[in-house]
Amino acid sequence: MILHRVVVLSRKEDIHQLARQVGRELFVAETISEASDITERINPELILFDHRFSPDCIREFLNTSDKNSNTYIVVIGEDQNNIYPPDQFISMGAHYYLHGKQDYHLLQGIVNQIQNKLTFGTQQEDTDTFFADDFTESVSMVGRSQAALHTLKMIKLVAASQCSPILIVGETGTGKEVAAKAIHTLKNPKELFVAVNCAALTANLLESELFGHVKGSFTSADREKTGLLELAGAGTIFLDEISEMPIDLQAKLLRVLQEKTFRKVGGTKEISCKATIIVSSNRNLKNEVQANRFRMDLYYRLNIFPITITPLRAPERKKDIPLLIQYFLKTSTVCPGKTNKITSITKLAIEALLKHDWPGNIRELHNVIERAILLETTDKIGLSSIVIDPGESDQFADNARADKIKDFSLAKAERELIARALQETFWQKTRAAEMLGISRATLYAKVKQYNIKSGSSAAKDQDEISALSLPEPLMVG
Ligand SMILES: Nc1ncnc2c1ncn2[C@@H]1O[C@H](COP(=O)(O)OP(=O)(O)OP(=O)(O)O)[C@@H](O)[C@H]1O
Ligand SMILES: [Mg+2]
Repeated sequence: MILHRVVVLSRKEDIHQLARQVGRELFVAETISEASDITERINPELILFDHRFSPDCIREFLNTSDKNSNTYIVVIGEDQNNIYPPDQFISMGAHYYLHGKQDYHLLQGIVNQIQNKLTFGTQQEDTDTFFADDFTESVSMVGRSQAALHTLKMIKLVAASQCSPILIVGETGTGKEVAAKAIHTLKNPKELFVAVNCAALTANLLESELFGHVKGSFTSADREKTGLLELAGAGTIFLDEISEMPIDLQAKLLRVLQEKTFRKVGGTKEISCKATIIVSSNRNLKNEVQANRFRMDLYYRLNIFPITITPLRAPERKKDIPLLIQYFLKTSTVCPGKTNKITSITKLAIEALLKHDWPGNIRELHNVIERAILLETTDKIGLSSIVIDPGESDQFADNARADKIKDFSLAKAERELIARALQETFWQKTRAAEMLGISRATLYAKVKQYNIKSGSSAAKDQDEISALSLPEPLMVG
């Protein structure tokens, strides 16, 4: 594992080298105040302290740094002749102490522990890498949660095999089609990927789309048609919403799966099916079998290697939410004028998004972010631009809003509101106070109380999850 940003408070080259092994970007400070400044600006995950800075310096650093910073402090001592005992550093607030070079090998274990603690919502997300590997980048499959990594593993396994059909199950919007395309990309990238939605066509049309027909096989069949199974060639045919396939056609599909051949509607010639067949369902197919809507034999034929995509609200998938938000912010084209302008989102907005249940999963999250980009007037998505269910009528929307605000502490909501008012008035406090319906004195007191600082956006000091506006590293290895 590797961290995103590491600060080194030392002039020693071997400590710089050590930091380079565990961090992508290295920032070097020579004084405590420089280290505090850098920490405030870039919110590093780790700071390596030369033990020559005394234990009191740790306290000074913590006192002058942002109280909300989640930076871990590791003090690096000497192999021998250490001036201060390690526990003095720890009692001042350092997290770990390494006894010089003999302990350097322990740093990787510490970094792994830090990474494990970096869970969503409480710590800086490493959002630079949206994808678990190069392959997922090629299919835009964002995700590094345990659940996403597991799905990816299954995708790779199945793509490396001759398994066909492949069943992908999961709630609506979880990314079943994205997963199907990923399998295709790994397996047959040069061939065709043909998708058919089984719910979108009537039984007859679907049959003729899939298998094709010969001229004159039914009234409007005025010429021969090639079916999608044939068209897909050695590529992939993706049968979306398989549970909606009419029961008669299910029997015909079963035959294709068993014989690997099929006939056109009205035809006699057997055509071989070379395509990999991937089917998806957001319904529980076993329940469909029990309700006599889905053939049991087809269910068992499909269920060789089912890949289940975890819903976004599951604890083991939630970690992907901030990552997906960041990805959608970066890639959205919904407002071309705002492209690359809205690059971050406030913590309050993130918290609201993390609390939602996401019945529509990634598709719903994508829509909410696009809507937020449309609504947002600053360079940072704030809570007020997050409208999760726009289907509510105005009359209910106010209630929903009130309910949503009840979800947060009053202080958080107040801080957000004040920050927005200041931002919208370009920090003209008299106007902001008027907007908020409070006196200037009260506004001053609140700004101080909540530590709201001026900047180009509402609460730039603490709320960024963006990695896009980072300063250049002071020194890179
Ligand atoms: N891992 C992912 N990374 C980025 N975007 C994703 C990911 N998974 C899904 N999406 C996006 O979410 C939307 C829904 O994905 P997809 O169509 O694959 O879902 P689905 O499971 O097939 O949904 P349905 O059951 O409704 O057909 C798409 O816009 C897709 O690009
Ligand atoms: Mg789909």
